[in-house]
Amino acid sequence: MIETLHSLYKKKHNILLKTQKQIEGIRHASRVAAKILNLLCKEVRPGITTKELDLLSRELHKQFLAIPAPLGYGHPPFPASICTSINDVICHGIPDNRPLQEGDIVNIDVTSIVNGYYGDLSRTVVVKQASSDAYRVIEASYNSLKAAISVCRPGAKLSQIGGAIQQVADSLGCSVVHQFVGHGIGCQFHEEPAIFHYANKPKVDILMQPGMTFTIEPMINLGLCDAVVDKKDHWTARTIDGSLSAQFEHTILITPTGHEILTLIDAKEAYDGVPDLFIDPKSR
Ligand code: MF3
Ligand code: CO
Ligand code: CO
Repeated sequence: MIETLHSLYKKKHNILLKTQKQIEGIRHASRVAAKILNLLCKEVRPGITTKELDLLSRELHKQFLAIPAPLGYGHPPFPASICTSINDVICHGIPDNRPLQEGDIVNIDVTSIVNGYYGDLSRTVVVKQASSDAYRVIEASYNSLKAAISVCRPGAKLSQIGGAIQQVADSLGCSVVHQFVGHGIGCQFHEEPAIFHYANKPKVDILMQPGMTFTIEPMINLGLCDAVVDKKDHWTARTIDGSLSAQFEHTILITPTGHEILTLIDAKEAYDGVPDLFIDPKSR
């Protein structure tokens, strides 16, 4: 039965349902990525540059015997070990020498490879203190990720994820970015399926199955939903109207009874202010 479903999902959808051994590898890589992100977010303060955060990330990856997946990824090759997306940058921001300022919001996205397995997560943090609009778009992204995760269980439709996210974003007067999606992950950086973050009715609405591993990473804007990719660096994606954008991301495993968030840290590692959704409830 398991074997049948495994080959059916591979053949029909090109989705790899993971074995117990693969799940253990992905869980470990995800925990490492989560620890690294936690240590990076802890350093966010006025005056620090995202280049310094990138350097620290490279050091931490070495310490944890991990490889940062973004470095050299894609075309043109991504030039850093993390993505740092400030204010109107939606995603794929490249670390640079601009010191962070009070009132900035910055998303840090970490993808780590450990023993060939991948874990991927991100958080948006506030530099010291921000505007109420900034807190609103952050809340929309965080709450929408939480709502999306709560629909994840065997037999649920992938489109329920977008439905849940859209509802939260709408209720806070924010918009959902369409141009970037969540993705299968684990044995490669980006696997099938694509996870849409907006309300959608696909022709084939794939059902979640135990052993599926994918990211959910809603990018939410205060204004228009459209993204524009930088013509010079071919990576940095900004909101078309200059409005603020926020994002949170987790790597999720579908289990026989529901789901497991793989990209969590233990409570003892979390510093003050780490949001609940990033701490392993079993460690409390
Ligand atoms: N970590 C991002 C994601 O969530 C992808 C970054 S691609 C990179 O899928 F090349 F910019 F690193
Ligand atoms: Co990511
Ligand atoms: Co991702």
